Amino acid sequence: MPPSTPRPRVTTTDLAAMKRDQHKIVMITAYDALFASLVDQAGVDVILVGDSVGPVLAGMPSTVPVTLNQMIYHGRAVQRGTRHALVVIDLPFLSYQISPRDAVRNAGRILKRTAAGAVKLEGGRDFAPAVRSLVIAGIPVMGHIGLTPQSLNVLGGIRVHGRGAGAPERLIDDARALEDAGAFAIVLEFITADVARRVSESVTIPTIGIGSGPHCDGQVLVLHDMLGLNENFHAKFVKRYAELGAAVRGAVASFADEVRTVAYPDEAHTHAG
Ligand code: KIV
Repeated sequence: MPPSTPRPRVTTTDLAAMKRDQHKIVMITAYDALFASLVDQAGVDVILVGDSVGPVLAGMPSTVPVTLNQMIYHGRAVQRGTRHALVVIDLPFLSYQISPRDAVRNAGRILKRTAAGAVKLEGGRDFAPAVRSLVIAGIPVMGHIGLTPQSLNVLGGIRVHGRGAGAPERLIDDARALEDAGAFAIVLEFITADVARRVSESVTIPTIGIGSGPHCDGQVLVLHDMLGLNENFHAKFVKRYAELGAAVRGAVASFADEVRTVAYPDEAHTHAG
């Protein structure tokens, strides 16, 4: 392909081929056009407009208060900022849990208003009917099992999933139910590495891990965590590839210091005449 030809958008079919060809899938979150454009240029395959936007950007205590309109606002910005990656938007709490009809109405609204490529929802076999209705309506769905933050109040807190009698089998059944319902991929969050491997081997659709070890078909991280911007969040699985929180504080402190000492604006940053 000539260098000037823009790369086509990643599709759900491309992701299936990546699993088949054993090419790892790279997914990362973004919530705005500026960061989305940067991560798109870095060559990620999938950008997730996660409902983590609530806690990470909006100071919310969890993902539960995040609204459909918030997801549409951030989803539109991310889609505008990208050319290559597949953009997947989280369905927020209570936008799909009540009924499959509700799921289709709300997910349809998201795709119509954002032009994104797919939605993601949390839950296993209980949500297979919703996934099936969405796919029949023409809406690609990514599943999400293991730790599902929208259900944290029921799960009773953050813990690794897949441990205990029957737990691995339940996760495998959930993944198979999502695949049978037509999901194109599944996020495996906070599952033991061995169980994540077993789940990944039990389905033909790609699994994308977060805190679930190296055997998944791809990996996802929250951008603000891996950039060191979300400094209050600590988890063993988060590798910080930069320390932008410290860099921002340092840059702004330098600006403040130079304004107070009238070192800024200097001659180089002043229009003469
Ligand atoms: O909301 C989110 O960012 C997510 C990822 C953690 C997978 O669901």
